[in-house]
Amino acid sequence: MSWLLRFWDSTIGKKVVMAVSGIGLMGFVFIHMAGNLQMFLGADAMHKYAVLLRTSEELLWVARIGLIVMAVLHVVSAVQLTRINAAARPVGYAKREPQVSTFASRYLRVGGVFLLLFIVYHLGHMTTGWFNESLVHLQPYGNVVLGFQSPWIVLFYVVAMAVLGLHLFHGAWAGFRTLGLQKRSPSPLQRSLALGFAVIVWAGFTVVPVAVFLGILN
Ligand code: HEM
Repeated sequence: MSWLLRFWDSTIGKKVVMAVSGIGLMGFVFIHMAGNLQMFLGADAMHKYAVLLRTSEELLWVARIGLIVMAVLHVVSAVQLTRINAAARPVGYAKREPQVSTFASRYLRVGGVFLLLFIVYHLGHMTTGWFNESLVHLQPYGNVVLGFQSPWIVLFYVVAMAVLGLHLFHGAWAGFRTLGLQKRSPSPLQRSLALGFAVIVWAGFTVVPVAVFLGILN
């Protein structure tokens, strides 16, 4: 057990925990995005999918707990790495002109906090009904259509999915480097893979609220 604590105490250990939990969360968002696309197959397909997820309540809770553990590890390692960085440079640069870091990397932390707030809102909107009185248990098609009747909610989701796309792009790219899976090259393949994954997830999620807004799904 002590080697595990020593590993967690090291900066690289926290980066690995962040990368591995990030991969798990990427798996979840991809499956969730693919599941949501069943909206285009109709209410029956969505209903069957929701029932399939609930074939076993025990298994559903195992998956939910796994998801919560990955999310907590991801956030805790991010917060601790941010603190370590801040402690290493207590006085910031007098003049800072990032050369290589991209828009995505500089806004990764702000994006992460925004995504946490999105997830809290989203659970209240689509799962618990805290922010959505019209929610009906096991009727995901109707819940999604009724849930996106307000253009403000559609706009919020569209912005949140753009933030998610940027977060995934930088996060997947950073994860490749942490795990040493990237080869030295001016245009590494891993960067294109990270970009491709981010674009697929962003487009796959965004198309659903936009289709409801345009009346294609109703
Ligand atoms: C346009 C985008 C999205 C739509 C339309 C959508 C739709 C839904 C729906 C309908 C449910 C309820 C499923 C059910 O009870 O059968 C749900 C649950 C959930 N969604 Fe999303 N979702 C979107 C984006 C996201 C994103 C980006 C994340 C995470 C980063 C996310 C995380 C979750 C979680 C954690 C649950 C709860 C799953 C459970 O029951 O344990 N969703 N979503």
